[in-house]
Amino acid sequence: MRTQVVIIGSGPSGLLLGQLLSQQGIETVILDRVSKDYILSRVRAGVLEEGTVQLMEKVGAAKRLHQEGLPHNGFSLTFDGRDHRIDLVDLTSGKRVMVYGQTEVTHDLMDAREAAGLVTIYDAADVEPHEFEGSGPYVTYRKDGINHRIDCDFIAGCDGFHGVSRKSVADGAIKEFEKIYPFGWLGILADVPPVNHELIYANHPRGFALCSMRSHTRSRYYVQCSLEDRLEDWSDQRFWDEIRRRLPDSHAESMVIGPSFEKSIAPLRSFVSEPMRFGRLFLAGDAAHIVPPTGAKGLNLAASDVHYLSEALIEFYRDRSDAGIDFYSQKALSRVWKAVRFSWWMTTMMHRFTDTGDFGQRIQEAELDYLVQSRAASTALAENYVGLPY
Ligand code: APR
Ligand code: PHB
Repeated sequence: MRTQVVIIGSGPSGLLLGQLLSQQGIETVILDRVSKDYILSRVRAGVLEEGTVQLMEKVGAAKRLHQEGLPHNGFSLTFDGRDHRIDLVDLTSGKRVMVYGQTEVTHDLMDAREAAGLVTIYDAADVEPHEFEGSGPYVTYRKDGINHRIDCDFIAGCDGFHGVSRKSVADGAIKEFEKIYPFGWLGILADVPPVNHELIYANHPRGFALCSMRSHTRSRYYVQCSLEDRLEDWSDQRFWDEIRRRLPDSHAESMVIGPSFEKSIAPLRSFVSEPMRFGRLFLAGDAAHIVPPTGAKGLNLAASDVHYLSEALIEFYRDRSDAGIDFYSQKALSRVWKAVRFSWWMTTMMHRFTDTGDFGQRIQEAELDYLVQSRAASTALAENYVGLPY
């Protein structure tokens, strides 16, 4: 088989890239090692920057997002018994974010791809990119016991942090930067109305908490937990007791509780690999970088990467020019590092770190106090939260 671009990974990066390219008449085949149902069962974050919403509109996949997504004009920061609203619209001259689950984004992009009759091969085993440093790259995989080969012009590695693309690059060609945080997030989904109409990010001596949502009747809540914690340690009752302790009384008292139907623990890390291009192989999204979920930048970075990559590839096919693809890595990394910095900063400011002790706690309190008193500091938070320009 032959195609123009083989995309490894059918997550949001791979799917959005596929739509952006196919709109310009560029052929793609997407390969994923798991099934469509499995991909759609993964629960991820849910705050979209306007740039991400615009990309969904551009590929004609934003109808449900506009019907069911919840536009948010601000969020709350709580600390030291205080509840301070960050007014995103006011601080950024009119920008806001859209609360819409990543699983739904993936669903809508899969539907758009299917409607356009484009090829996605799920359950593809042993996917491997080859010869991408030369001019004749190809990808091999096995499906139902049969070996296949797809020849192509380019390979897009959109296969997440554990994918094969980054691992296929020669050792000396890649530099990795990593920071592991000494705690995790325990998250639940429950069919109870959200405690507040906007998100609450809570700094508390017992640890961070986040009150988010998926709809007016479905809440997504998190508490900072120890990396040693097991899910069995966390009954629903323990979770509800703990999150209420970490919120100001007014929210704790009004929080509606109920049985959770999803519960998971996620570690937090910041990771960047440089560069994001190796000859005719490009990395995008989680394949190239991971951010801690504080600030919800993961999906939005995946979207900006594939925006840059699609423009570069479109320029290649349209103008026979390498200029865009030569510049892709530098352009994407410049935005990636700013989001890495922002999510690291927000994580550092909002979580309890045992190693920094009482000193660390006072520094956090001073920082939060400054942040809410200074319009300049609030603006810096808000403009990063709504998303820096592409
Ligand atoms: N071969 C084929 N497919 C693979 C392989 C492989 N060896 N390894 C991984 N994949 C697939 C996974 O099954 C998954 O469907 O690649 C896809 C990668 O999707 P994501 O992990 O969702 O990554 P990405 O599309 O870059 O989306 C980034 O996802 O993890 C969140 O917070 C992150 O919101 C961000 C977003
Ligand atoms: C979520 O809704 O899952 C969510 C929201 C905001 C974050 C992280 C996660 O910063």
